[in-house]
Amino acid sequence: MTKTIIITGSGGLIGSEATKFWHEKGYNIVGIDNDMRAYYFGIEASTNKNVLKHKETLSNYQHYNIDIRDYNLLEKIFKDYNNDIQGIVHTAAQPSHDWACREPLTDFGVNAQGTLNMLELTRQYAENVPFIFTSTNKVYGDTPNYLPLIELETRYEIDKNHKFYEKGIDETMSIDNSKHSIFGASKVAADVMVQEYGKYFGMKTVVFRGGCLTGPTHCGAQLHGFLAYLIKCACNKSEYTIFGYKGKQVRDNIHSHDLINAFWHYFQNPKSGEVYNMGGSRYSNVSMIEAISKIENILGYKIKYVLTEEARIGDHIWYISDVSKFQKDYPNWHYEYDCDKIINEMVENALQQMALK
Ligand SMILES: NC(=O)c1ccc[n+]([C@@H]2O[C@H](COP(=O)([O-])OP(=O)(O)OC[C@H]3O[C@@H](n4cnc5c(N)ncnc54)[C@H](O)[C@@H]3O)[C@@H](O)[C@H]2O)c1
Repeated sequence: MTKTIIITGSGGLIGSEATKFWHEKGYNIVGIDNDMRAYYFGIEASTNKNVLKHKETLSNYQHYNIDIRDYNLLEKIFKDYNNDIQGIVHTAAQPSHDWACREPLTDFGVNAQGTLNMLELTRQYAENVPFIFTSTNKVYGDTPNYLPLIELETRYEIDKNHKFYEKGIDETMSIDNSKHSIFGASKVAADVMVQEYGKYFGMKTVVFRGGCLTGPTHCGAQLHGFLAYLIKCACNKSEYTIFGYKGKQVRDNIHSHDLINAFWHYFQNPKSGEVYNMGGSRYSNVSMIEAISKIENILGYKIKYVLTEEARIGDHIWYISDVSKFQKDYPNWHYEYDCDKIINEMVENALQQMALK
């Protein structure tokens, strides 16, 4: 038996980090990615270079250039690897809030149907293995915007007397009756289905509701990957657009390494149908204009940016994830990256990439 992990979206930010991580742990990796990120966001957002690197550098990596909407092609893979399959890391998705309204059928097909395909095939061929799913804080829709928020000099902040002040937003927030965006709604469908396969069928499924997931392998585009795209614009000296809220909207950023490490802790001791909020928390968060100032300090020059009056529909004004439920269940998991460390590494990486061109 060759212990094997199936990773969907293996060229993407989270999938490629998971691929390297599990490979290093001695697993055979079955990577599934059809580079649809280039279809969503243009060729500059293609993740093909990450896949090529896996093929070149990882001896136990097999790539399948297939669409997760195609049940029959996926089934062939599950049949081929069958008893070798030790776990599923499902990260392939249409990940953008803003893109989804252009093609709701594509968005729902990939995010909801694609996830159901992966769940059902896991149930058929590898029922007992951990199934890890990356959901999003957009499942809460715009409900966070109705929290008592206060405008400070460089950021919005929640009222000190609110229960979410100390640690951030926890999993008790309702996912119902709010404006989700088409993307948020397709992710809700997937998120609830992943929980259901745990709660109804007893499978070891887990939902990680991500804040801002980031890292140097992020192929940032205007519609997805705010820090990666901002740093790309800053290094190229091209103009960046901030949509609304005076640039004071707050994001909690978690490095892909810290997220994958959380996956690993779950993988070693999986529960059924669990849901965790997962982001940078109080430990690692930043507003847009705070991020700009940090990047300017590193680069030593001013970044060109414009501020629009209008915000993106349903965009969060302040979002900080409370990760204490996960920390309670997995006390040995810790952050390695805070915002400064993340930004420093990403700027360094962007400058290196530019030098290679
Ligand atoms: N990056 C973030 O800030 C963030 C925040 C919250 C949640 N998430 C979620 O985390 C997951 C991973 O996000 P990411 O940032 O790594 O995204 P990404 O776009 O970098 O990676 C996703 C990968 O999936 C592939 N893909 C897309 N559609 C596919 C399809 N139909 N068939 C096969 N492959 C397909 C893409 O080509 C891409 O390489 C997604 O589910 C996303 O919704 C991301």
